[in-house]
Amino acid sequence: MNLGEAGPIGVFDSGYGGLTILHQIRQLMPEYDYLYLGDNARTPYGTRSFDVVYEFTLQAVQKLFSMGCHLIILACNTASAKALRTIQQTDLPLMEDKTKRVLGIIRPTTECIGQITQSRHVGILATSGTISSNSYSLEISKLYPDIVVTGEPCPMWVPLVENNEHDSPGADYFVKKHIENLLTRDPLIDSIILGCTHYPLLIEKIKKYTPNHVKVVSQGEYVANSLRSYLERHEDIASVCSNGGTCKFLTTENPKKFSESASIFLNSSIDAERVVLE
Ligand code: DGL
Repeated sequence: MNLGEAGPIGVFDSGYGGLTILHQIRQLMPEYDYLYLGDNARTPYGTRSFDVVYEFTLQAVQKLFSMGCHLIILACNTASAKALRTIQQTDLPLMEDKTKRVLGIIRPTTECIGQITQSRHVGILATSGTISSNSYSLEISKLYPDIVVTGEPCPMWVPLVENNEHDSPGADYFVKKHIENLLTRDPLIDSIILGCTHYPLLIEKIKKYTPNHVKVVSQGEYVANSLRSYLERHEDIASVCSNGGTCKFLTTENPKKFSESASIFLNSSIDAERVVLE
């Protein structure tokens, strides 16, 4: 393709979780074209090392760029925590096409929390990788140094969602366990950030085990608003995002299985294609 030719906005996740972000972005900005990529063959990313998450994420970004995207949202906290900075600082400057951009989802989520918490004690539920990266505590402390942040890794939650077990009774055990752990470690928490894009699919169970006075914050709406504001402020980037209102889906695993599961998550029928990342 020619440099500068408009293309879809890329949305990347290790699997199905990024669909929760895509859904909110499309609600707010249906006019753009979107290309979703789920690396279902190699999910979960949450327990993988920094180097591996970076390598896989860079491959996904390069694939989406090669398919015409100029702007890519890493709709995955683990990739945002472990790969975004290196891609932005090392890989993008080496690319010939200077219109290429990659954005993450941790910063937009942390910006909102200062207005939400009253007790100034916030909990983060996320993958082991995101929690051990300390990305949420670091970002929150830059914006709101008075907020105390406690993170709880939930390594079983992504596999529950990826295996379509998020509504099963087995999911209750793991959801209850991690919410109780978090609130035992800091009983003053009044707001919990779902710091993994898969977790909104467990929202019914998460709410069931969270006391009423504790707010549960999902990222999708904040990420979508932040992207809209970014496109308003960066007309050069907005002008290379095409406006056909379409959405295509790519997966590194079986496209039939992806289409079936994604259709349930999105509540509308979709048809995915398989791609190979290398
Ligand atoms: N949904 C992703 C996140 O937001 C990644 C989950 C995983 O692959 O472990 O962290």
